Amino acid sequence: MKFYLISVLCLIFVNTIFAADEVSYTGTWSASQYFNGDLPDIDLQNNTLRQFLRVSIPGEEIRFHFSNLYGKEELELKSVHVAKSGGQGTGKILVDTDTEITFNGKSAVTIPAYSEVISDTLPFAISTFDELAITIYYGKIPEDFTGHAGSRTRSFIELGNAVSKETFTDEHSFVRWYTIAAIDVVDNEKKYEALLCYGDSITDGRGSTNDKQNRWPDVLAEKLQSNPATQHIAVLNGGIGATTLYGESTPKSPTGLGRFEKDVAEQTNVKYMIVLYGVNDILFNGIDAKTLINAYKELIKKAHAIGITIYGSPILPFKTQADYTEEKNEVKETVNAWIKNTPASEGGFDAVIDLASVVADPNDEMVFNPDLCDNDGLHPNYLGHNAMGNVADLSLFMDKEDTEQANVDKKINKKVIVKCKAVKKY
Ligand SMILES: *[C@@H]1O[C@H](CO)[C@@H](O)[C@H](O)[C@H]1NC(C)=O
Repeated sequence: MKFYLISVLCLIFVNTIFAADEVSYTGTWSASQYFNGDLPDIDLQNNTLRQFLRVSIPGEEIRFHFSNLYGKEELELKSVHVAKSGGQGTGKILVDTDTEITFNGKSAVTIPAYSEVISDTLPFAISTFDELAITIYYGKIPEDFTGHAGSRTRSFIELGNAVSKETFTDEHSFVRWYTIAAIDVVDNEKKYEALLCYGDSITDGRGSTNDKQNRWPDVLAEKLQSNPATQHIAVLNGGIGATTLYGESTPKSPTGLGRFEKDVAEQTNVKYMIVLYGVNDILFNGIDAKTLINAYKELIKKAHAIGITIYGSPILPFKTQADYTEEKNEVKETVNAWIKNTPASEGGFDAVIDLASVVADPNDEMVFNPDLCDNDGLHPNYLGHNAMGNVADLSLFMDKEDTEQANVDKKINKKVIVKCKAVKKY
């Protein structure tokens, strides 16, 4: 109750500030957060973690979102730096770009339990597809750690405070992300809009190449940037491995419906989304077609309610996956027919982006093409990711409609966190 009152006061305060300074942002990178039980072999407490990511749109000024969403205790970041990467898969930064990230002017920030913070906005110029290193010197950490296991990029730990060290060795390294949730660029001219790719491990990049940034959403981002008419589209990754669209949403495995507010609505300036969900619902949860279709309808309604254009893909083929049955395949075919044939006026997607046909075996469309598959009948390999990332018709992202009111509402919401120095509790 107390927290609620405080946040209302902040909102009023912030509303006034917002009208005066009118800062607009668009997301350039994101990773959806969940409870990450798998901690590094060496304690993060009092040590320094360096993590790498690739942004999708450029900017002159940027800000960072850090997450302790599932922590039952507070998380202390004692010092946080950003720099340009010194090489894919290395622990190296370009030292002349090493810059401190601050929080209300301070080096350290304590993120309360179940909360996230946004940093100050810094002058730090980034170009399209720059790879950045974010280096965090941790103080106290909670037992339940928040992060994103499917980083597909290598992260590195050095003992003590090493935030400005040029090269981290790979003695303590692993392919996971912790704490880093999103990056926004200042977009006062409202040049940009974000496209969020929403789904499970396939969207998260399983089967792509570590450190090569070749998940299907990355390939799509490159395609969008190669065309002047779609260079205003940022691509955010909203994939979480081993998740379903429908069902019980838990911190370890939040569902597509359950995490919509956090991972779609509250991302910065999302105008489009592409949904590739459902294979885990069918293969591992035994969902029926009607329930899954209703879940899609609910997701579509949620997106439309906040002015997001939502595209859907049919579920990819899985006949050679170990849990395949004919019944499950029939559910998939029923759902895919609904996805492909239901217009938005009847509760369907705004358009279909068919990521399935392109990875189907030419001899049997129920089978994942073995040449494009990561050996499990279910996930694309890097060639499959490449094929999927090249499917979309770019004209789907050229219609710059006026969704300003929805965007303004979202920005005010975000601003609460910054100006009140605090936090949003979930
Ligand atoms: C981290 O540093 C604090 C303050 O110096 C100390 O109390 C704590 O025991 C240290 N934790 C570890 C795991 O070394």
